[in-house]
Amino acid sequence: MSNIVIIGAQWGDEGKGKIVDMLAPDMDAVVRFQGGHNAGHTVSVGGKTYKLKLIPSGILHKDKICLVGNGVVLDPREFCAEMDALIAEGLDLGPGRLKISRKCHLILPYHQALDQARETSKGDDKIGTTGRGIGPCYEDKAARVGIRACDLEDFDLLRGKIHSALKEKNALLAGLYGQKSLDPETLAAKLKPVAARLAPYLTDVSEELSRIEARGGRIMFEGAQGVHLDIDHGTYPFVTSSNTVAGNAAAGGGIAHSSLHRVVGVAKAYTTRVGSGAFPTELTEETGRYIQQKGAEIGTVTGRKRRCGWLDAVVLRESVRLCGVNDFALTKLDVLSGLPEVKICTEYVYRGRRILYPPQAESGLAEVEPVYESLPGWHENLSAVRVFSDLPEAARNYIARLEALTGVPVGIVSVGANREQTVMRGLKSPQPPSAG
Ligand code: GDP
Ligand code: IMO
Ligand code: MG
Repeated sequence: MSNIVIIGAQWGDEGKGKIVDMLAPDMDAVVRFQGGHNAGHTVSVGGKTYKLKLIPSGILHKDKICLVGNGVVLDPREFCAEMDALIAEGLDLGPGRLKISRKCHLILPYHQALDQARETSKGDDKIGTTGRGIGPCYEDKAARVGIRACDLEDFDLLRGKIHSALKEKNALLAGLYGQKSLDPETLAAKLKPVAARLAPYLTDVSEELSRIEARGGRIMFEGAQGVHLDIDHGTYPFVTSSNTVAGNAAAGGGIAHSSLHRVVGVAKAYTTRVGSGAFPTELTEETGRYIQQKGAEIGTVTGRKRRCGWLDAVVLRESVRLCGVNDFALTKLDVLSGLPEVKICTEYVYRGRRILYPPQAESGLAEVEPVYESLPGWHENLSAVRVFSDLPEAARNYIARLEALTGVPVGIVSVGANREQTVMRGLKSPQPPSAG
């Protein structure tokens, strides 16, 4: 029982990057398995803050192998820019420890142009995507016309594929959306040096992982986004374009499902969401603004203010059910200090009935009425707490209530952005959840 999958249990930005970085010393390798540079994972160590998008959050530990699995959509120019930023910080990013699957699909400028043009054309109905071309790239993958990282190794082939792709994309961009057409030769020429730079990093990630397992190494799978942004199980259509659930770590990493031993669900002590879509516990008044400001809830990728609300046990229960979450890592508990009361949504009222899981109909979540339980707040500053028993009683009760409502123990409590601002309780076994 050694490999761990880290997933976001809400709508993203739960603090996955911090938890991956913190758990990395006990692991041998960290693998991203889905998403792209729509992800923004902030890791704060020793007074420095690192913004990671595509490069796994284990990279700050110099002896860890970091892999980008086949399920990731990779913008090659963005990847190089991210490498440059980390190299400037003095990190070793050689191909001995940073590797990219040859099977990754590439995000190219036409994907971004299409993503943005579509969003603009949707007006008020827009999804609120990050505009990074994620959806259009996964579309090409499913349509079997995508360009993959392995195509970077053969420039003539790559050039030919860009020409074919742009026949269709330019018809859409110019014909339907009134945008400028893109020139295939210019695009290919810009990719040439990028392809040369990335070539040494391309590998068979699946084979690398089986080698690490064979020598008894431990692998951590780093999820991006959150369960409720999953293309199948999230709040469709206001979702991302990949499966964010834990099971996809197998397909998107290239490993057997039996190698996914433990699932840690990262959850904020409250809830946030960026972009459009239903959010039952959203606070649009003073408390919401307090949490937004105190928690510095601003998106890493797009700089948008995150919408904030109370902790939602219905949302978490669904994540437990879909991902087999063994433990929660509860982050940003420090942000709730200073509130006279803290609320947890225990269930919803939907069309006159009490329900414990989100309704399946597309508009369902927008219709539900959250049922709240109010608990006493606490005023103490938690940022220096390192031992569970040093947390104020009210904060411990809040955690105990979350555990009872979901049936999952909180194994890690985070009380600040820095690596060391963490309370480790140990990873335990789940108990059956109780309702209400
Ligand atoms: P991710 O996408 O899930 O990795 O999360 P983000 O990095 O986008 O957003 C989480 C933000 O909260 C980052 O700015 C972190 O530095 C910060 N953070 C993480 N854990 C804590 C915590 O326990 N307390 C506080 N105050 N900030 C935290
Ligand atoms: P991390 O990994 C929060 C949201 C976008 C939008 C929807 C679709 O940092 O938790 P996309 O660009 O993926 O097509 O946008 O998904 N979204 C995220 N929200 N954190 C993220 O990543 C996100 N990645 C995408 O805001 O609502
Ligand atoms: Mg983020």
